[in-house]
Amino acid sequence: MSSRQWLRDARVDAAAISANTEALRAAAPSAHTLAVVKADGYGHGAVTSARAALEGGADHLGVADLQEAFELRGAGIDAPLVAWLLDPQFDVDAAVDAGVTLGLSSLDQLERVVAAGRGALVHVKADTGLSRNGVPEAQWGPMLERLARAVHDGDVRLTGVFSHLSNTSPDDDRQQVVVFERFVDAVRAVGLDPGIRHLAATAGALDHPVARYDMVRFGIGLYGIAAERHLRGTVALRPAMRLSARVVGVKRVPAGSGVSYGYAHRTESATTLALVPLGYADGVPRAAVDAPVLLGESIHRVVGRVAMDQIVVDVGDAAVAVGDEAVLWGDPAHGVPHVDEWADAAGTIAYELVTRLGRRVHRTTVGGGFRVGESA
Ligand SMILES: Cc1ncc(COP(=O)(O)O)c(C=O)c1O
Repeated sequence: MSSRQWLRDARVDAAAISANTEALRAAAPSAHTLAVVKADGYGHGAVTSARAALEGGADHLGVADLQEAFELRGAGIDAPLVAWLLDPQFDVDAAVDAGVTLGLSSLDQLERVVAAGRGALVHVKADTGLSRNGVPEAQWGPMLERLARAVHDGDVRLTGVFSHLSNTSPDDDRQQVVVFERFVDAVRAVGLDPGIRHLAATAGALDHPVARYDMVRFGIGLYGIAAERHLRGTVALRPAMRLSARVVGVKRVPAGSGVSYGYAHRTESATTLALVPLGYADGVPRAAVDAPVLLGESIHRVVGRVAMDQIVVDVGDAAVAVGDEAVLWGDPAHGVPHVDEWADAAGTIAYELVTRLGRRVHRTTVGGGFRVGESA
């Protein structure tokens, strides 16, 4: 780890991702564990996150698109890897050459794979309720008949079937399990072995043991964040990202001073304001109100509107100086706010915060028993 003090820094603890993977596998065991590292590992770095999760016992990786898959392969990661949000022109040959499993959601996609005649690895996704990707029930018949022929002809290899839960309510999730069971039956009815059956992501795996099947897909939990409010604290997870910046200005202001655009806040009494160079261009949500920041020994609050490049923190009478470190979120075990507190302050979910850090924020990677280091 560099001793250089970055103006803005997102420090990712790879060891925390490994430990979270282990903790989740213990809490929601299944024969296989897929680590979801799409969206640049939920903002934590795809390659770092993939290596850390494999270190923690994951045996599969999952991404949305093939570009993300090729990035992992380019870094020398050769674990089984599924990509499930395919470009209309997806390159079957490149996927086969890279040993990437294609998550198929339509007959058109299947025809594209068959036309390549390369014996591509596929997992077929059923739409069991979200109305997003996945084959809708009305099209299971033609899809599975075509799949059976393609498998027989050696044009594709079916190694798994899957779907995704909506986390709407326990009843809604159970209803999706029923539909998924029907899909698995339909696959078997055309004479195919469904291979690895997988349905649950972090929340589903913890809430519904029945939905774990042969593999669970952990995303947000790997990064130390609970998938749903009711799951906060149920598994001992360590937030892996710590977002901080150096204070660039400190000023004492009198009572009644307007703060930031629109004077959405006016100081009630004389106080000290610290200027922290992180704004919405860096992924700090503009909607955040009263969000917490660790400065010095204490948690203080953001006042006034979040601007593009900066926030203002009211530190009262605390002694804060230019150059001090302000921590927006990290591991609360170290006295810093949890990213969930920022999500609550902004009326959003932590997924959105960690995945949207801007390019100006330096990334530092620490921890892990494998080759990690500072990113460029
Ligand atoms: C198909 C699929 N599986 C698993 C996940 C991981 O979900 P979570 O981050 O809630 O664990 C996602 C994320 O959106 C997904 O799209």
